[in-house]
Amino acid sequence: MSPVTSNSLTHLECSLCSRTFEAGKVHNLCECGGPLLVRYDLEQLRRSWKRETLASAPNSMWRYGPVLPVTQQKSIISLGEGMTPLLRTERLGRRLGAERLRIKDEGLNPTGSFKARGLSCAVSMAVELGIRELAIPSAGNAASAMAAYAAAAGLEAHIFMPRDVPQANFVECKAYGAEVTLVDGLISDCAKLVAAGARREGWFDVTTLKEPYRIEGKKTMGYELAEQMSWRLPGAIFYPTGGGVGLIGMWKAFNEMEALGWIGPKRPKMIAVQVEGCQPVVRAFEQGSARSEFWENAYTVASGLRVPKPLGDFLILQAVRESHGTALAVSDTELLDAGIRLASEEGLFVAPEGAACVSALEKLLAGGFLKRDEEIVIYNTGSGLKYLEAYSTRFPRAASGEQDKLGGLITPR
Ligand SMILES: Cc1ncc(COP(=O)(O)O)c(C=O)c1O
Ligand SMILES: [Zn+2]
Repeated sequence: MSPVTSNSLTHLECSLCSRTFEAGKVHNLCECGGPLLVRYDLEQLRRSWKRETLASAPNSMWRYGPVLPVTQQKSIISLGEGMTPLLRTERLGRRLGAERLRIKDEGLNPTGSFKARGLSCAVSMAVELGIRELAIPSAGNAASAMAAYAAAAGLEAHIFMPRDVPQANFVECKAYGAEVTLVDGLISDCAKLVAAGARREGWFDVTTLKEPYRIEGKKTMGYELAEQMSWRLPGAIFYPTGGGVGLIGMWKAFNEMEALGWIGPKRPKMIAVQVEGCQPVVRAFEQGSARSEFWENAYTVASGLRVPKPLGDFLILQAVRESHGTALAVSDTELLDAGIRLASEEGLFVAPEGAACVSALEKLLAGGFLKRDEEIVIYNTGSGLKYLEAYSTRFPRAASGEQDKLGGLITPR
């Protein structure tokens, strides 16, 4: 089935100063430094787009095309992203004391993470706007997704990621034919190199939130959740927060869906989960600050959460506070324990980022922040298969001899 395109995109709007920007043009940040958010004519859509019509819509995130920014069908670069399962995890729920617990498993997306949603949208918009060369700073999974979608679109991809990024991300990007630069530093250092390259080489900077369309792809996690829950929302959503764009995107989706008349005013408690080694949002939340401060010497095996200063920190904090949610951090030991237990209990091998949410849930139930009968959804943002180095620390194998070489017993030597 053909993806649907937007007929209701009106303009972009600065999230800080509300200045408006014309659609159909290339944009990064507003001059005031604020990320731009895409706006649609939701009044008109409310009359013309009924949620019942989704029954015959494409089986990907492009089913929500009327609230995505792409206006021409031929621009859409899709590898089948979205429509991931929302799984009941009763055994885990029973152990933790959560009677109505589900996991939205984003690990089943192309390139094994939810980043596929954002990059499908961003690369499609690059095609629509005639952009040829893309550059991205990434903690890992966004790089893999951009490399894949750029390859599918026939665009050039310049990738900057930390030298100690998981091996899967490095190998994927190389296999997809991207130009990869490994940086001695974190995503914040990568972002500086991308900005410099964009000025020098004319690359388009696809840094999350500097580029206005990745968030639009990610927001489909919110639409999809509502659709899968028959247009109710859960009482609480756990989201592993690095740049926080998935959380901000879902919050935007909920407001859009209310304007469309698809859901009511009730919102889930938005729970931002970070890690002990990098928790700028948690600190800002606890201090009552509107913005976060740069987290020095960030470390964690949940590499997607190693974001020392999210660009959209104020938007994350607004959503968490407005929703009466909270922000908390767990340790690497706790999240690896939770990930392994989840795998053996439910058959789900999740990314450390998703595992962090399981550990956070345990804490919030124990502390009484959440009730046993609350409807809870955890976002697992990636596949555990992309983090073999992290999980291998728990399952060491004896150092290899000849027989452990690649191919081993099955390949003639
Ligand atoms: C698996 C995984 N989970 C979560 C995140 C954080 O995403 P967000 O920017 O939406 O907070 C990342 C980012 O790299 C990731 O790769
Ligand atoms: Zn502005």
